[in-house]
Amino acid sequence: MSDLTASVTKDKQGSIVVEGNEALKYNFHYTSPVFDVDHSRLADIYERWGRVLIVIDTIVHPIYHEQVEKYFAHYNIPITWKIINGGEVNKTMDTMLSIVDAMDSFGVVRTEPTLVIGGGLVTDVSGYACASYRRTSNFIRVPTTLIGLIDASVSIKVGINHRKLKNRLGAYHAPLHTFLDFSFLKTLPIGQVRNGFAELVKIASVGDKAVWDLLVKHGKELVETGFGFREGGDGVRAPGQEICHKGIETMLQLESPNLHELGLDRVIAFGHTWSPTLELTPRVPLRHGHAITIDMAYSITLAHSRGLINDAQRDEWFTLVSSVGLSMDHELFTEELLSVATEAIKKTRDGKQRFAVPDSEFGKCVFLNDVPLDELRSVLRVHKDFVKSRFGSGDGLEAYVDAGDLGAEPEAYAKGNAEKVNGVNGHADVKTPANSLKRKGINGEAPKMAAVKAGGVPVDSTGIVTNGITGTTPVY
Ligand SMILES: NC(=O)c1ccc[n+]([C@@H]2O[C@H](COP(=O)([O-])OP(=O)(O)OC[C@H]3O[C@@H](n4cnc5c(N)ncnc54)[C@H](O)[C@@H]3O)[C@@H](O)[C@H]2O)c1
Ligand SMILES: [Zn+2]
Repeated sequence: MSDLTASVTKDKQGSIVVEGNEALKYNFHYTSPVFDVDHSRLADIYERWGRVLIVIDTIVHPIYHEQVEKYFAHYNIPITWKIINGGEVNKTMDTMLSIVDAMDSFGVVRTEPTLVIGGGLVTDVSGYACASYRRTSNFIRVPTTLIGLIDASVSIKVGINHRKLKNRLGAYHAPLHTFLDFSFLKTLPIGQVRNGFAELVKIASVGDKAVWDLLVKHGKELVETGFGFREGGDGVRAPGQEICHKGIETMLQLESPNLHELGLDRVIAFGHTWSPTLELTPRVPLRHGHAITIDMAYSITLAHSRGLINDAQRDEWFTLVSSVGLSMDHELFTEELLSVATEAIKKTRDGKQRFAVPDSEFGKCVFLNDVPLDELRSVLRVHKDFVKSRFGSGDGLEAYVDAGDLGAEPEAYAKGNAEKVNGVNGHADVKTPANSLKRKGINGEAPKMAAVKAGGVPVDSTGIVTNGITGTTPVY
């Protein structure tokens, strides 16, 4: 929770002027295993309260509750559990209010921190509940996914989806502490590890050459062994930690001067230009990590075609993402999508393109603002030919969301959504599609296509609703 103080003066015209500053301080601790009785740091925080309210993901709870219970029992701190269903469909006001109810029945004192354990979904929703509870209350995060560890829990953004709009309601609300324990990756499915790996590729390509070199060297093994925490992974655990620690610090250095995201030239937007549209275009959505890797791969081709990076750099980039099973292209990544998605993202970037691409060496970033649609189209043809000639389809492994990501069976959910798109079950505020993009799901079926609604800011891509969420609002 930040501290906001202000002073009151009068100007020459006699108007009252209140001027103040927000003091912000939050900490990241590398503690592993965090729930080990020898590591008292977390328990010490709860000692004065003599109790703890824990909000935890429904899949994480059965795997880790014994360890957590043993830990707090050792320090005589009783636990009250609030278990919430994960999955994007549960990133809702209902879930948030259920956490508020739990805080109420627990009788949370405003400065008493709620402990939140889970992936980005749980930390985002719970963080928003804590931001809203009694106008502001404290929380502590223990992220358990790679996305959570190196991305969602590095940021101070919290929030929920509203109707079909991704992260439409939320806040900038820093936790008191974030405990980073990479041993949670031992139980994280490899598909989720790969998903998070894409964000490390992003940050390394445009922000940290040293991390890039480590990814090139160890990437495949890191993904296959859950960053060294699965069997046979001992050899890569150290470089894995180095990559994550450096990646987190780079992200904090890049983002901390701009915590309220008022600056729009953002290095971390690499891979997040066309992907918000692409991610939700297939009947069953792509995983975020695969969508951004396709976007990054195309951006690499663009940077190469403009002479910013050379053949060897391009080849090294593609070789790495191919070796870890991330997607590089998609049949629905078309000229039409490029044009619709470019217009959509410009609305969130003050009318400019601001395409973030690596500069002459990896680890540096340049923003392009002058790329005509014709060039985007011809680069797409070059990109598709290049991927096809070197890597075949460019499809990645486990590229589509599963029941864990969604909180619902993807096939059943896609069916439900097709009905929504067709107006059977839709919200009254869904606007008429302005364009149409062909859409195919993992089974190759092409349901009635909807589109991006180009008006309004930020843009609602109302047609692209296969998981019930729309968004050309960039989600980094
Ligand atoms: N606040 C931010 O800046 C920010 C940044 C990136 C992403 N996000 C948000 O994060 C969410 C995605 O986060 P995520 O990818 O962590 O997804 P998630 O929280 O849905 O977790 C993914 C899956 O992994 C399971 N899981 C979590 N930890 C596990 C573990 N240790 N072992 C086994 N299974 C485990 C979960 O139950 C779930 O099924 C999205 O809603 C996105 O908008 C927020
Ligand atoms: Zn992202």
